Amino acid sequence: MEARDEHPVRVVLCLGIRCRRRGALRLLKVAQAGQGVLLIRARCLRLCPRAPVAVRYPIGTWYGRLTPELFGALLEGRSDEALESSVVFRMADSVFRPQIAAKALPEPESDLD
Ligand code: FES
Repeated sequence: MEARDEHPVRVVLCLGIRCRRRGALRLLKVAQAGQGVLLIRARCLRLCPRAPVAVRYPIGTWYGRLTPELFGALLEGRSDEALESSVVFRMADSVFRPQIAAKALPEPESDLD
């Protein structure tokens, strides 16, 4: 029997301190409204200057400076210009914006809450 993945789409939402300070908990409320997407909560994804940050799989697209509206579009898999402007990089096609990534390697968070 073939195993089926109930959640082919997974979204990793950073709930580290910097992302929370910039509205990640509002994004979490959008996610809790339910879109049939498996939501994975993460600590610091090491992209703090772009907070709040989320990654959508299976493509592996990293988004930054998300608003609740943009996060809703991300969850639904919509692609529009506004959401596209928040893409930091895509793992699948190696679209990488080094000018952003170079600024995005802070020290890991030290809080253990
Ligand atoms: S706290 Fe979210 S990327 Fe660092």
